Amino acid sequence: MTLLEIQGINKSFRGLHALRDVDISVDEGEIVGIIGANGAGKTTLFNCVTGAFPPDSGRVTLDGRDITGAKMHVLARSGLVRTFQLMRPFHTMTTLENVTIAVQSRGVRPERAARDEAATLLDRTGLWSWADAESGSLPTAVQKRLELTRALAMRPRVLLLDEVLAGLVPSERTPVLDLLDELRREEGVTMLFIEHIMTAVRRLSDRVVMMDQGAVIARGSVDDVLHDPRVIEAYLGKEYGDAA
Ligand SMILES: Nc1ncnc2c1ncn2[C@@H]1O[C@H](COP(=O)(O)OP(=O)(O)OP(=O)(O)O)[C@@H](O)[C@H]1O
Ligand SMILES: [Mg+2]
Repeated sequence: MTLLEIQGINKSFRGLHALRDVDISVDEGEIVGIIGANGAGKTTLFNCVTGAFPPDSGRVTLDGRDITGAKMHVLARSGLVRTFQLMRPFHTMTTLENVTIAVQSRGVRPERAARDEAATLLDRTGLWSWADAESGSLPTAVQKRLELTRALAMRPRVLLLDEVLAGLVPSERTPVLDLLDELRREEGVTMLFIEHIMTAVRRLSDRVVMMDQGAVIARGSVDDVLHDPRVIEAYLGKEYGDAA
């Protein structure tokens, strides 16, 4: 059953056609990877889907309900949660406080209960030893995991992940990939994830969508898409050839 349906999305910025008739549908429990070179429009698509700005045209539905242009806090209540390519924790707060606020955004009260739940989540994502550290001073790898932990605190049904592995060395990627795998297996979380690291795309994706210059130019199984000559030309043959 289709859970998230993105249909005919267009978005222009002062003459730059950043998204062109983008259609992507994601079934319940499925993990779909979005690949594409820098500037292809991947983050802009997430911005259109999560209400950062409305698309010029097109429609987004979640479980059959129209959510086009809905704001992030409204979407989170419906179970759609995103992470940011550039992290946005509250820098002067500790890691534990940041996650506590995310738990509270679901209406969990009193604060003590929210903190206990946040602590359990930090333990699960391997961040408990950083609980009292100020978020602004965290190493990149920890900040990326904090971004993911905050998303999990909102109990997503659909998770939109924008380069959660960027800036992590291979040994730091594995636990994150293991966690995403576990979320799918044990909680049936549906995911749409943007990623440049091809080993991760191969490991996680049920299907892949390739974007180039604002349009979807290939879609299908991981192997089909990564061997598509248009994909190789537009992407893999260039700077990311080594990543495959
Ligand atoms: N708010 C904005 N105003 C103007 N132009 C924008 C805005 N957001 C994105 N763009 C432009 O839209 C195009 C697509 O950018 P986007 O960030 O979506 O690419 P991306 O596929 O996420 O790239 P990367 O892999 O580098 O993250 C780029 O040319 C970018 O400069
Ligand atoms: Mg991006």
